[in-house]
Amino acid sequence: MHRDIRSANGRKIYNMEIQISQINKLIYARADVVKYYQNIEVLTKAEAVLFEKLSPTIKDSKILDIGVGGGRTTKYLLPLSRDYTGVDYVRQYAEETGKKYPNAKILCGDARDLKEFEDETFDFVLFSFNGLDCISNDDRLKALKEIFRVLKKGGVFMFSSHNRDYQYFNKFPWQQKIHFSLSYLLFNLHCLYYLPNHFKLKKHEIHTEDYAVTNDGDHRYSLLFYYISIDKQVKQLTDIGFSGVEAFDMNGETVESDISSLSNHYLARKN
Ligand SMILES: C[S@@+](CC[C@H](N)C(=O)[O-])C[C@H]1O[C@@H](n2cnc3c(N)ncnc32)[C@H](O)[C@@H]1O
Repeated sequence: MHRDIRSANGRKIYNMEIQISQINKLIYARADVVKYYQNIEVLTKAEAVLFEKLSPTIKDSKILDIGVGGGRTTKYLLPLSRDYTGVDYVRQYAEETGKKYPNAKILCGDARDLKEFEDETFDFVLFSFNGLDCISNDDRLKALKEIFRVLKKGGVFMFSSHNRDYQYFNKFPWQQKIHFSLSYLLFNLHCLYYLPNHFKLKKHEIHTEDYAVTNDGDHRYSLLFYYISIDKQVKQLTDIGFSGVEAFDMNGETVESDISSLSNHYLARKN
């Protein structure tokens, strides 16, 4: 617990930690957000590259897909796996995704407490699309320990996380690359319209040496996301017991540091 750690503006982080996890869970349950995740189906470039790289691990294996949402990754992993389980802490996703994929086991469950699974159950655990970033630092460490526990020896954990070294970290769209097009203008107007949400959440932001939790433009400036640099993320994973940690950029290329990707993908192994 970080009871005596303070954020950049001097407030105690412990109280803010609890609020971050609660605020984000409510947003993921919001009808328009549920609908958004139910309608996306395509893998990112990095996911496609890494699923291909991991195909010997994934094929005929036991898979846990955490934060399964609308089942974007279920579509790709279910046909390959021997035994696929998806979990999400928002009941609407678990119910609807279970109906969409009747051959998959889809449960309502929380990464911070995977008590329904025995130690060393899964060959491959996935927490995709920066899902791990919507819980607080304490909760993140709990979730990582749980994932390590349920992973078999020789198993692989794959996830993505927001990159604190990103060149446009904590910048508004108009502080980034400027284009002259109608779509750019409309996008900036959309952001300006929802900016009051950003200022409401600003008081929950945390900036420490190891990580930051900030509000960005996602879902109309309504979430608080964890951002971490690759070196700190590798240390966080190895401190928990993971080994052979590799980081990847948005194209699925191996990187040791990266300023050009908004988020990085990671593979972490249990030996
Ligand atoms: C960014 S969405 C990604 C959804 C889906 N995996 C995809 O790639 O389209 C993150 C998902 O993680 C879920 N989630 C966040 N924290 C969670 C937790 N602690 N346990 C289980 N699910 C969680 C959210 O409800 C949401 O469905």
